[in-house]
Amino acid sequence: MVGQSTRALQHSLQLLRRKVSTWGSGGTVGPHRFSVVNLGLTERCDFHCRFCHRWKKEGIAALDLDRYRGLIDQLSDYMVPPAKLRLAGGEVLLLPELPELVCHASRKGWAVEICTNGWYLDKAMARRLGDCGVALVAVSLDSLDPRVHDELRGKPGATERVLQALEAMGREAPQVHLTLMTLILKQNLFHLVPLVRWADAHPHLDGVFFQVLYSNLGDDWRLRHTNEEVRDLLPPPGETSRVLAELAALKQAGSAIENEPAQLRTFALYYEEPFRLQRRGPCPLAEDTCVIDEYGMLRFCPYSEQVAGEVFATPLAELLDSNAAREQKEQMQRCTGTCYSVLNCLFKEE
Ligand SMILES: C[S@@+](CC[C@H](N)C(=O)[O-])C[C@H]1O[C@@H](n2cnc3c(N)ncnc32)[C@H](O)[C@@H]1O
Ligand code: SF4
Ligand code: SF4
Repeated sequence: MVGQSTRALQHSLQLLRRKVSTWGSGGTVGPHRFSVVNLGLTERCDFHCRFCHRWKKEGIAALDLDRYRGLIDQLSDYMVPPAKLRLAGGEVLLLPELPELVCHASRKGWAVEICTNGWYLDKAMARRLGDCGVALVAVSLDSLDPRVHDELRGKPGATERVLQALEAMGREAPQVHLTLMTLILKQNLFHLVPLVRWADAHPHLDGVFFQVLYSNLGDDWRLRHTNEEVRDLLPPPGETSRVLAELAALKQAGSAIENEPAQLRTFALYYEEPFRLQRRGPCPLAEDTCVIDEYGMLRFCPYSEQVAGEVFATPLAELLDSNAAREQKEQMQRCTGTCYSVLNCLFKEE
């Protein structure tokens, strides 16, 4: 009886500490709360995209569902609705447990998002994901021309499968937000405006989200554009700025481009001089985002060499209260660089 009430008291104190804790006396970084969690599940993929290194690794082939359910439960204590849980890969649809994980996280109140190359998104998978309450499915498509998309993706038939996937989602899970994810590259630069016009007229698509190329062709993300393979994909600055201005005008005219004009303008600056681009304020990810990779390593900055800890070895509450977590968040306050995350998926206007 006494043991039970002590445990109850400890639990209440722990919850209270989570709610009121601030970092340091100045309280410059607030208590932990997550509105976006990027949960990497596997790097495994059977495409051979020219701009991606993930397929070169073996990656995890199956998930321990109980461990992941437990992790999602712990993360849910810090969730600030409407909170996004991005289940990331690799190709997450290669994981047999993926739909079950989507079901669990949706039930917990997360808006679950996945990005896929579309190959395995057939009717049955679309129905299953829809039934599980997935909030957003993004399908990567860089051009409607198979000679361009299939070549960039190293997979003959990739374009056709994307078109089939969009059809399957529209028919089997029409309530799910369905977008294209499109990279801006030398090879597809002049395909972007026609792609947007096509998407605007598509019966099932809700939008197109553009991304800039970031070098991840190696384990060291700082290699950036020094790599020959990357240089061959970079679009020419002047023409790119013109295309991006055209996309911003389409957006303002009501097109379903999901990037805000400010982000498209930042993309133009980035392609003009990738190394010069600097941010002013503290990293926007420090506030309410965390990243957990496929090995369970927790970071707040996805590019930090240090980890805050391993979520399958230590309770999340303990990791979040650790010095390692505090140090990483403090470093993020000082970072004025730019990176894939703040440019692309987690862009915030400064
Ligand atoms: C890493 S993939 C994982 C999901 C899935 N396999 C796919 O390709 O859609 C997620 C998104 O990142 C994009 N991507 C891959 N490598 C990139 C790079 N070097 N720079 C920018 N975006 C990249 C892909 O085109 C895709 O839209
Ligand atoms: S971008 Fe996606 S489809 Fe292409 S290799 Fe990387 S993980 Fe696979
Ligand atoms: S590299 Fe800098 S801007 Fe990017 S996530 Fe890390 S701290 Fe933020």
